[in-house]
Amino acid sequence: MGTDVQSGQELKGRVALVTGGTAGIGAATAEALLAAGYRVAANYGSNKQAAEAFAARTGIPVFAWNVADMAACEAGVAKVQAALGPVEVLVNNAGITRDAMLHKMTAAQWREVLDVNLGGCFNMCRTVIEGMRERRFGRIINMSSVNGLAGQVGQTNYTATKAGLIGFTKSLALEGASRSITANTIAPGYTDTAMVGHVPPEVLAQILKSVPIGRLATPAEIARGVIFLAADEAGFITGITLSINGGKYVA
Ligand code: CAA
Repeated sequence: MGTDVQSGQELKGRVALVTGGTAGIGAATAEALLAAGYRVAANYGSNKQAAEAFAARTGIPVFAWNVADMAACEAGVAKVQAALGPVEVLVNNAGITRDAMLHKMTAAQWREVLDVNLGGCFNMCRTVIEGMRERRFGRIINMSSVNGLAGQVGQTNYTATKAGLIGFTKSLALEGASRSITANTIAPGYTDTAMVGHVPPEVLAQILKSVPIGRLATPAEIARGVIFLAADEAGFITGITLSINGGKYVA
């Protein structure tokens, strides 16, 4: 639960770290965790101005590092733990798109997406997992995507990572079970964020026609799933993929 650095007193509320936690689904998740009583830290990659505005608005401390860089993850988590205490809930939300048809995709577009979306999850989980094992508690929630389940034109790189996260998480769930560490994925549908804002409007209009609920998700609707899976009471839920997609992909 963490100890106050100055008073040495035990602090209430588990410590939660959200990567990519200052914008979009990550920001909504960080805010929802705070509202649910967690002590929250939000990581961000590079947009310092937006991150500082988020911190000023919410009171959630923000920490900059690149999740694709293992040494940066180790240093970043050390800073979070010095400020708040050991990370008990990790939400691997940081993700990028570099959409292109495969016949136009560069090796750099492939690599970059793999390094952030999948490599970032490995780096972050690897950094916190030993502490979780020692403390015999952990909640790991990895942000996949409906497109990792269904596929999407222009996203061979992105969907490879989002499907990969599901396999990674299932294996981690099995490894963590005996130490009360759960690992689950959330597969959001198209959500009202800057990432979806980059989809060409005519393509997005077409996609929306395939969503039975007929609209984008709000980031808060995805965050609701995180709160559900992060709870102490969710200790028997592990290895699942929670779809929140408005009916776009029903499996
Ligand atoms: N479904 C079916 N066909 C599609 C399609 C779609 N969603 N999008 C494009 N196509 C088709 C086009 O009709 C075209 O077909 P033909 O070759 O037969 O004419 C072909 O794919 C190529 O289209 P373009 O000429 O437009 O090719 P382009 O190279 O200019 O752009 C693209 C292709 C990059 C894929 C562009 O269409 C695009 O950005 N699409 C959006 C991809 C997408 O949905 N990304 C999701 C981002 S949000 C996210 O990832 C969050 C999440 O988890 C949900």
